[in-house]
Amino acid sequence: MAREIKRVGVVGLGMMGAGITEVVARADYDVVGVEIDEGAVAVGRGNVETSTGKAVARGKLSEADRDAIMGRITFTPRRSDLRGVDLVIEAIPERLAWKQELIADLDTILDADAIIATNTSSLSVTTIAAASEHSERVAGLHFFNPAPVQKLVEVIRTELTADETVETLGGVAARLGKTAVSCSDRAGFVTNALLFALFNAAFDLAEQGLAGYRDVDLAATAGLGFPMGPFTLCDLVGLEPTEFIAHTLFDETRDTMDAPRGTLRRLVAAGRYGRKTGQGFYDYSGDQPTPPSGTAPLTEVLDALPNATAVDASGAFEADGVPVRVIQRNGDVVYAEVTQPLAGDSAGADEVAEALRGLGLPVVAAPVSVIDDLTLGYLNDAATMVQSGYATANDVDVAMRLGCAMPAGPCEIAESRGFEAVVAKLDDLHRRTGQPRHVPVLLLRDLAAAGATAFPR
Ligand code: CAA
Repeated sequence: MAREIKRVGVVGLGMMGAGITEVVARADYDVVGVEIDEGAVAVGRGNVETSTGKAVARGKLSEADRDAIMGRITFTPRRSDLRGVDLVIEAIPERLAWKQELIADLDTILDADAIIATNTSSLSVTTIAAASEHSERVAGLHFFNPAPVQKLVEVIRTELTADETVETLGGVAARLGKTAVSCSDRAGFVTNALLFALFNAAFDLAEQGLAGYRDVDLAATAGLGFPMGPFTLCDLVGLEPTEFIAHTLFDETRDTMDAPRGTLRRLVAAGRYGRKTGQGFYDYSGDQPTPPSGTAPLTEVLDALPNATAVDASGAFEADGVPVRVIQRNGDVVYAEVTQPLAGDSAGADEVAEALRGLGLPVVAAPVSVIDDLTLGYLNDAATMVQSGYATANDVDVAMRLGCAMPAGPCEIAESRGFEAVVAKLDDLHRRTGQPRHVPVLLLRDLAAAGATAFPR
């Protein structure tokens, strides 16, 4: 039976912890927010005040409700103030030893049946839980950045977790207005395991000189409809946590496809941690360029180009012998890719790209399809998860839609592109990269061979 939760503790009031505190207090729970000292408490309180203040300024929260939310939170530097709470969510930095010390200490403070949830992104929940003498009441409860916005939480069950703990956390997630996806304890769980491979695909495009940061981000936003491109998202999450999570994933899989890339490691070494320090992949000190976001009917696009051939089902055609691919949404072209040779004469490709830019369209000119390079490995990874039974196609899609605000999950993307086309493109990608992770997984091949249009759901 699920335990009734009335008072909640949150330990660690950094970006994630403060967001979680806000979310929990908004759901009418009394919250005890704990930091290591008075200075850190003041910063944590400031984080929650700023966020709720913005909600008031945007007219989304009344001043009275904001005051009520702040009134439900007790900020304190003393862990002992957690005595009597029913649930503690820990959101301290990703250091295993710190988390284990905290969990063991909570044994001395909390009732033996109080629940402890860790918001770790990538550390082993099992190893953290094992530090408690009551490890059956410990599980993962993983929020996404910004916690008040993203609708997903992952509930991670270890070998040691009791059913009651998982049920209780599912109930808490529902009261917080979040959708819970349950999974077992693998590095990166569902969302980060998929997202970080996608980040690495983006880093590879840049490191191999195939596309710049802004082009990759444009392909992700205009071409794929993601709310932000991978480089912008890494800057938001912070490059230190990004590098840390990448290391943890790599430690578990030992697959070079998961290894933290040099670009990321060098920026962290240089102290460019992303948006919070004003510089990461991008420099946030001045005005930010507005990316093109025009649209145009397909007929207008074809009319603007010399000698355009017929457009196939994937949006591909040629203009004066230059390969072009367009993405259409609601009947209009919203993004175009032009194949631009790495060596040799690129004048023809430049001309086609300019003509498309002249229509106000987002255009990426590169030697490869940036949207394909970004997504094919991601689709294969998602299908691998489904094939192994780690997550269902539904859970994978919900995780990416609600955790990262993507318009569609990877299984849905594979279905809309058609399994046969995805398998053929993965085979092409594998011929170029030689990476075993790009060999289409058996489930995709079987779905293609069977002429299926959807994953079993
Ligand atoms: N707190 C509360 N609300 C916030 C907020 C915050 N910090 N930031 C944005 N919002 C709200 C805004 O109020 C706004 O709400 P309305 O639309 O109702 O007015 C909405 O979110 C959109 O905000 P903005 O218009 O200011 O900005 P935007 O449209 O550019 O969206 C974004 C910003 C919400 C971050 C959006 O781009 C997004 O969802 N990006 C994807 C983020 C993502 O993938 N997160 C997961 C990262 S992985 C992770 O977190 C796991 C891990 O372990 C590392």
